[in-house]
Amino acid sequence: MKASNSVPIQPNNVTKGFIIVDNVHKHYDMGEVKVLALNSINLSINRGEIVSIVGSSGSGKTTLLNIIGALDYADSGKIIIDGHDLSSLTDKQLSYMRRETIGYVFQNFNLLEELTAAKNIEMPMILTKKSKSERKKKVEELLKIVNLDDRANHKPNQLSGGEQQRVAIARALGNDTKIILADEPTGNLDSATGNRIVDLLLRVSKEGNKTLIFVTHENHIATKADRQIVMNDGLIIEDKITKSK
Ligand SMILES: Nc1ncnc2c1ncn2[C@@H]1O[C@H](COP(=O)(O)OP(=O)(O)OP(=O)(O)O)[C@@H](O)[C@H]1O
Ligand SMILES: [Mg+2]
Repeated sequence: MKASNSVPIQPNNVTKGFIIVDNVHKHYDMGEVKVLALNSINLSINRGEIVSIVGSSGSGKTTLLNIIGALDYADSGKIIIDGHDLSSLTDKQLSYMRRETIGYVFQNFNLLEELTAAKNIEMPMILTKKSKSERKKKVEELLKIVNLDDRANHKPNQLSGGEQQRVAIARALGNDTKIILADEPTGNLDSATGNRIVDLLLRVSKEGNKTLIFVTHENHIATKADRQIVMNDGLIIEDKITKSK
């Protein structure tokens, strides 16, 4: 009876989950000290669902996002994306998944310093089969969307923190992926720009039936999601549907 304990029973019906996190643990070894970053995480997120993750610094939000996004490995447990158990994929299939299925907005942006804003935005598209003219058109469109069309040729060190953040967001949208993972996408933005950017992420996600998972420290941003997850000490301590929408 092995199958019965492979996927835990969840209120959300895990078998239908587009993203399933099944009993995931993750620790980091720091010499003598062992940091338990994720401590038995179970989650099922449906296609098109918009989820926010909140929780104190160090509670495991980035670690969880990185593991869902196949950027890091769990010590134990499973991640299933669109029916694919990540641990069963080859490196090539994982790269394909990272490129074609998931758009990332990193907490520290991860922009390439030597490239202009436009080139940074274009980069994930270069790795796909888009033609040069398609890419150029998409970059122009995305620069307009994030209100940076007058900064296309600036390199990251010639941009403010908020501008770099908007480049990172535009870059995540280029490949029209089914999933967007955004780690504090408004962390460096003033409240008006932050609201606008999150509204943009929500709109793009809703229109494209994308699954959006974003981390935030701001309650008014978190409540814009359909569902809010609260983490503490590597655990999910609350998982609720947002009422005030
Ligand atoms: N590469 C690493 N090596 C060692 N410990 C790590 C590493 N990455 C994260 N940690 C530890 O794991 C825990 C969870 O970190 P994580 O970055 O997921 O937290 P977070 O909730 O995203 O915090 P923040 O809100 O500050 O971004 C923290 O205690 C952190 O110190
Ligand atoms: Mg973090």
